[in-house]
Amino acid sequence: MKSPGTPWWSSRKRYSSDGLKTPDRSELTDSYISSSSSNGGKSSVDRNPVKVAVRSVAGAITSCFIPPETKSSSNFGDSEPPSVVSDISSSGSSTKPSSRRGIYSSSNNSTQTKEPGSLKFTIAEIYKATRNFSPSLKIGQGGFGTVYKGRLEDGTFVAVKRAKKNVYDKHIGIEFQSEIKMLARVEHMNLVRCHGYLEHEDEKIVVVEYVPNGTLREHLDCLSGNILDLAARLDIAIDVAHAVTYLHMYTDHPIIHRDIKSSNILLTENLRAKVADFGFARLAADSDAGATHVSTQVKGTAGYLDPEYLRTYQLTEKSDVYSFGVLLVELVSGRRPIESKRDLKERITARWAMKLFTDGDAILTLDPMLQRNPATNLAVEKILELALQCLAPTRQGRPSMRRCAEILWSIRKDYRELSASDLQSLSSVSQRSASIREQ
Ligand SMILES: Nc1ncnc2c1ncn2[C@@H]1O[C@H](COP(=O)(O)OP(=O)(O)O)[C@@H](O)[C@H]1O
Ligand SMILES: [Mg+2]
Repeated sequence: MKSPGTPWWSSRKRYSSDGLKTPDRSELTDSYISSSSSNGGKSSVDRNPVKVAVRSVAGAITSCFIPPETKSSSNFGDSEPPSVVSDISSSGSSTKPSSRRGIYSSSNNSTQTKEPGSLKFTIAEIYKATRNFSPSLKIGQGGFGTVYKGRLEDGTFVAVKRAKKNVYDKHIGIEFQSEIKMLARVEHMNLVRCHGYLEHEDEKIVVVEYVPNGTLREHLDCLSGNILDLAARLDIAIDVAHAVTYLHMYTDHPIIHRDIKSSNILLTENLRAKVADFGFARLAADSDAGATHVSTQVKGTAGYLDPEYLRTYQLTEKSDVYSFGVLLVELVSGRRPIESKRDLKERITARWAMKLFTDGDAILTLDPMLQRNPATNLAVEKILELALQCLAPTRQGRPSMRRCAEILWSIRKDYRELSASDLQSLSSVSQRSASIREQ
């Protein structure tokens, strides 16, 4: 692994003032040549650095081609409190989360209220919060199971994730508890908070912070009718990079997210991002009989999976960096990581985008819903340059998540400055033409 100051990125090219200059690709591809040449001898054809870079990224991306999941969420824009839940909760007197009291607690011992400060919910609290898992409160369905919007007695909105019956290996009950306890200790403004859990008979339920404004994927699909502009997309990328850096660096031991993807990025009303489901993938076991070694099973989502992890089963923080690279391309292009209805060359979005980037046509990857201008052109080049590094075929070629955050920070700074100077020159041009008209 490279030290934090190691300049794989320090050879960053300079851009001309109009922001349109294509990067110096020989600088960019150096790391690819060294990382791919370690895999064996190369023919003379392979000496073209651009071709080598494209081929190594393309190979890496192709090797993790798996058909896409087809899931759509039904909760977009659903930020209204469930009325019946409010009715029920109005009968309670307590407002402290630590004193949640189940409506069924007097009739069923197993549903008594939990200890103050405990993470264990009672089934009564869960029933009450979700109105007995009312279908009207269902907000999503994912690999883990069904997600309901709920409201705790103190008024806090939560997302209640009810595991599919076969999603957990029955051997991992204790791991489940300790894992959730560990996750609940992790607090960061860009991470979805874990409130607690419940194991009840064959049910496993996790209660997490409810984030009201839909997923990043839904916003890229414009389901709300509003286009997510590039400034907002950059802010979201930075939020995600900060959250994942925190998981990798600042917790007791590194937490690898394992499932970074646009539907795990939830947005607040102010379009700030909260990363969901960190560490969850480790809890989920294969439903195959006899699968007990959860930690060695490949978990993640098609299109985002690190090819090196797929090949070696060795999971490191850099697998998250790879997924983050896929996410960056998704943010720029608006496309899903795998678009099976497109022409063969465009089906794997990251491969298509990296080819355009290395050919000097980065701007052609821009989401057609976004407008081109010098600030956008420059930002797209730089974001894709970072994506290319994140998508390096081996982990040594990828930056740390912290470095990604720093680079995105500087991309945002340049983007803001250039956008502001564009605006200034536009307004001075319009002032000038107005004064000419007055004369
Ligand atoms: N904490 C949450 N707050 C609001 N909505 C959520 C939350 N967690 C999940 N959802 C919704 O439920 C859907 C399914 O979530 P999940 O089971 O994690 O599957 P996936 O991550 O594959 O989409 C999400 O796409 C999202 O729409
Ligand atoms: Mg999720």
